[in-house]
Amino acid sequence: MNPPKHILITGATGQVGSELQVLLRQNYPYTTAFCVGRTTLDLLQMEAIEAYLTQHRIAAIINCAAYTQVDKAETDAEQAYLANVVAVENLARVANNHQIPFLHFSTDFVFDGNKNTPYEPTDTANPLGVYARTKYEGEQKALQHYPNTIILRTAWVYSSFGHNFVKTMLRLFAERPQINVVYDQIGCPTYAADIAATALAIIHSPKAMQGGIHHFVSKGVASWYDFAMAINELSGSTCHIEPILTHQYPTPARRPPYSVLSTQTLQQEWDIQPPYWREALERCLKTMGSLKE
Ligand SMILES: NC(=O)c1ccc[n+]([C@@H]2O[C@H](COP(=O)([O-])OP(=O)(O)OC[C@H]3O[C@@H](n4cnc5c(N)ncnc54)[C@H](OP(=O)(O)O)[C@@H]3O)[C@@H](O)[C@H]2O)c1
Repeated sequence: MNPPKHILITGATGQVGSELQVLLRQNYPYTTAFCVGRTTLDLLQMEAIEAYLTQHRIAAIINCAAYTQVDKAETDAEQAYLANVVAVENLARVANNHQIPFLHFSTDFVFDGNKNTPYEPTDTANPLGVYARTKYEGEQKALQHYPNTIILRTAWVYSSFGHNFVKTMLRLFAERPQINVVYDQIGCPTYAADIAATALAIIHSPKAMQGGIHHFVSKGVASWYDFAMAINELSGSTCHIEPILTHQYPTPARRPPYSVLSTQTLQQEWDIQPPYWREALERCLKTMGSLKE
């Protein structure tokens, strides 16, 4: 299979979508990215997607569009369902009609976090909240309507673009002498630029039509407290960070206490080697101009 010349990127203004645009401009001069937001292409209209693909001779789709506000989803289930299930099903159906690579992102939140060893793609899902349930249903719909769909589950995403934990911490460090951060939730902080690089490697691979579920996260594990401490140290902040328990910081949506994902399938079958999370964090802070000299 030839590498796709025209790629459709949905949710192009989000963290992963923005990083994809940067990498495509830098590293893939022969690929044209058709980057769409909700106003350019309505993902709830299958005919509109179908027409767009034909008009622009799209040869691969990377779906970064998603309803990602985990807590808001608890009271906004309909919008979460439309973006995370209906839109995904539409994209999968159209990709199936055209028989082109379709890469869709999902989340560590499909698991309940009751394990204490890294989750494999084959482990049983048990989503805890509305966002998590819609993401899991989106995965199932995509694979049902297009078995060649590649589902890339990732976690704890941050970037110089969009809203994320790193940017929130940097803002709070500048505003307050002390903050509290949860230390009993464990996961894998993952730089959206690394997710984007992995998605592009997959979509440009001769194996891009081999559907299935894979996990991509940085190597190593951290609690939110560990992550905050690393941002604090690497940015040269002097803010005091106090470790607290999840029940001391109640949120509308429950989160998995342990959401470490195993990346073995990508490492062994695709030779994709994720970076260590702290090294990736340094790269992101450097890009943001926030790395201490
Ligand atoms: N962020 C995380 O920590 C995290 C963790 C695990 C997995 N993931 C998954 O990774 C993927 C990318 O996440 P991200 O952090 O890059 O997300 P993000 O920054 O929140 O961006 C989401 C994008 O989707 C668009 N969007 C939302 N609802 C839409 C709709 N109804 N129709 C069309 N576009 C819509 C948004 O556009 P507007 O700006 O116009 O709303 C935005 O461009 C998602 O599938 C997410 O579930 C994320």
